[in-house]
Amino acid sequence: MPRLLLVSNRLPVTVKTEKDQVSVVRSAGGLATGLSGPHERSGGLWVGWPGDVSRLSQAQRAKLEEQLAGLRCVPLYLSASEVSRFYEGYSNRVLWPLCHYLLERVPRQDRDWDSYVKVNERFAELAASHYQPGDTIWVHDYQLMLVPGLLRKRLPEARIGFFHHIPFPSSEIFRTLPRREALVRGLLGADLVGFHTTSYVHHFSNTMLQVLGLETEVDHVTYEGRTVHLGAFPMGIDAEAFDRLAREPGTLEEVKVLRERAVGQRLLVGVDRLDYTKGIPRRLLAVQRVLEREPSLRGRLRFIQVAVPSRTQVEDYAAYREQVDELVGRINGLYGNMHNVPVHYLYRSLNERQLAALYRGADVMLVTPIRDGMNLVAKEFCAARPDEDGVLLLSEFAGAANELCEATFVNPYDVEGMADAILKALDMPASERQPRMRALRERVKAHDVHWWVGRFLDTLQAIPTPVKPQASG
Ligand code: ADP
Ligand code: G6P
Repeated sequence: MPRLLLVSNRLPVTVKTEKDQVSVVRSAGGLATGLSGPHERSGGLWVGWPGDVSRLSQAQRAKLEEQLAGLRCVPLYLSASEVSRFYEGYSNRVLWPLCHYLLERVPRQDRDWDSYVKVNERFAELAASHYQPGDTIWVHDYQLMLVPGLLRKRLPEARIGFFHHIPFPSSEIFRTLPRREALVRGLLGADLVGFHTTSYVHHFSNTMLQVLGLETEVDHVTYEGRTVHLGAFPMGIDAEAFDRLAREPGTLEEVKVLRERAVGQRLLVGVDRLDYTKGIPRRLLAVQRVLEREPSLRGRLRFIQVAVPSRTQVEDYAAYREQVDELVGRINGLYGNMHNVPVHYLYRSLNERQLAALYRGADVMLVTPIRDGMNLVAKEFCAARPDEDGVLLLSEFAGAANELCEATFVNPYDVEGMADAILKALDMPASERQPRMRALRERVKAHDVHWWVGRFLDTLQAIPTPVKPQASG
């Protein structure tokens, strides 16, 4: 197995400072949580951003670097201007909404492109400086779409893979980007470009045809004399670890406490980064409709929504947070009583045990993004149900919908339809819940993160590199 050099904007850990104490915490988001296990096993390096270090003293920075080195993480520090222009700007104000079909959120002028280019160059430079002949380089996600091409220039012989963790939109959408050509050429520096689903692969193929006039074969395209392979590799989770955690006495104790506080109540759960793609407002409205339509459920229905703060400096995220706060307040004002409120809203991150307990205690899990590359929360929920119980309500527009066929599907734009689905899920007999959950768990276990990494890397490894790396020594 060659040494693996992972390159992503976000490292699996993010720096945290509390009263002069510097530590690192698990990063939220599918990329970091999903790849952490494979990184620990691989013995390779991970190049990425550890978060904002601007307030750290020299000594604190040195301590952080020591901790990161222990985790085989190579930090790339972003300056304040790069955070605001590369990360919050081009990556999260332009590419993120565009890939999620939210064109109206894309600013009218893309002022931050030059910063995106510069930071991609910095990533390529740093990754290249750690490269040893024979290494496999695996670049991740939309923040670094130029990196494969920049690496190819520096290391023509290297084996380079790229994985796009978010939806690749229809070419009709992608083509609206003024910088479409540079971005597509950037990706084509890789030997293998992977997506979660075959429709994202088709969208990318169409985009190459429309933007560069490149005709693709089923799974490859010839570009500048090289063959670039394409494929769908649906990402999985560490299912075994979640399953194990969900069976541990400590977790079961937490489930017990959760259920004791909700005696006689049905429990709905939502777990997301607080992101406008996650469909939280319409989900809340659906819960409100359930309470309006079924007075008998008032006081007997509890919805726990946990949302981890994300990209808080981007205005659309701040506005979204206000919208969610307001809706929660409105529903609780309408349907709460002296003892109870229907919506328990936590604006914070939970640790893995707390997450597993919440998944395991839920009657119905609400995963209703308006669009999502994959959505790992849906898979974590199934893995955390060794009791083969619980109902998964899943958006048709999540990549996970392609695989998790036994979920109850909803259109996240249809509030009334979601309310119907919640009521149906609450009434679903055990004789239906169990076979569905059993089948879901089998899928999640069979196609876990190790299967995903193996399939991607085996495919990449089987591709002949343009020039054979020279034997060292
Ligand atoms: P995204 O990558 O868009 O955030 P995913 O569902 O694919 O969406 O991945 C989210 C990851 O972040 C999951 O591994 C999930 O456990 C984690 N996560 C989401 N919300 C929280 C939270 N409130 N506390 C802790 N972890 C969270
Ligand atoms: C999604 C993206 C990741 C990103 C994560 C968290 O999963 O695909 O690339 O790391 O969200 O977002 P953040 O902006 O905090 O890195």
